[in-house]
Amino acid sequence: MTDAANTTMTAQPAEAAAPRKSGGAFNRETVLEVQHYTDRLFRFRTTRDPAFRFINGQFAMIGLEVEGKPLLRAYSMASANYEDDLEFFSIKAPNGPLTSRLQHLKVGDIVLVGRKPTGTLVQSSLLPGKRLYMFSTGTGIAPFSSVIKDPEVYDLYDHLILVHGCRQIAELQYGFDIVKAARENEFFGDVVTEKLIHYPTVTREPFKYQGRATDLIENGKLFADIGQPPLNPAEDRVMICGSPGLLRDLVKMLQDRGFREGSSGDPATYVIEKAFVEQ
Ligand code: A2P
Repeated sequence: MTDAANTTMTAQPAEAAAPRKSGGAFNRETVLEVQHYTDRLFRFRTTRDPAFRFINGQFAMIGLEVEGKPLLRAYSMASANYEDDLEFFSIKAPNGPLTSRLQHLKVGDIVLVGRKPTGTLVQSSLLPGKRLYMFSTGTGIAPFSSVIKDPEVYDLYDHLILVHGCRQIAELQYGFDIVKAARENEFFGDVVTEKLIHYPTVTREPFKYQGRATDLIENGKLFADIGQPPLNPAEDRVMICGSPGLLRDLVKMLQDRGFREGSSGDPATYVIEKAFVEQ
C-alpha cells in the first residue's frame, strides 16, 4: 500500500480526446461539485461510468492528465457503490505533484479514474463480529464514508464505531457531514441512528473529545465515552485507515490484544489501509 501513494503511473497513456467509455485503463469522469473544507482539505464529486463497480471501502487510482500523461494516486471511494456519482476526499499538499493541481478542480473538469478498484477494507476479510471499529485519521476517513452508507454492513454488527482523529476541529467537518447525511438517509437512516457511533477527536486544540485514538484506547477513555467494553478479538472487528504512525501503533496494540490481520482468503479480526495521498 505504501508504494501506491508514491507511484506516478505513466505507463498507460490516457486517450486524449476519446469518449469516456471507450477502452483503456481509465475512465474520463467530469467534475460535478467541489467543496473546500480547510486550506488543507476538500472533497469533489464526479460522474461515474456505470460499468465502474466496486466494493464499499475500496480505492482506485485517480488523477489528472499532465503533459499528456496520467498523473495518478490511490484514492478511496467516499461514495457508496450504489450512488450514481463518485466522491473523493483529498488533502491539498502545496508541493504535491497531484494534489497541488487537483485542489484547483472546477466543475466541468475531467478526472481520470482507474478501472480496477481494489483494497483491503472489505467485510469479506473480516470474521463475523459484534462491533465494527473504523479508526481513521485525516483523509483516512474516506473509505469509511462509503462503508457507513452500506446498509448491508449494519446487518452484520450490533454497532459500528467510527473514530476520526485530526489535529484541529475544522478538519473533522467532513466526518460530521457524512455521518449526518447517513443518519438522515430516507431508506436506512434509522438503523444508522441506532447503530453508528461517531467519535471525532482532536489533538491540538480543546474539544469535547481529545487525544490520539491509540491513547484513548490505552487509557480506556474511548470505551467509557461510547459505553462499550474494551477492544477484544472475540467480539470486535477493526478497520484502520490513516497516517503511517496510526497504522504502526494501532496494529501493535491490536496484535498485543490477540487480533490478527485478515485477508480475502483468510478472514480474521482486523484489516488496514494507508491513507494514501500525501502528495
Ligand atoms: P498529533 O497531533 O498528536 O500528531 P496528521 O495531520 O499528522 O496526519 O495527523 C492526524 C491526526 O493523527 C492527528 O490528530 C495526530 O495526532 C494523529 N496521529 C499521528 N500519529 C499518530 C499515531 N501514531 N497514533 C495515533 N494518532 C496519531
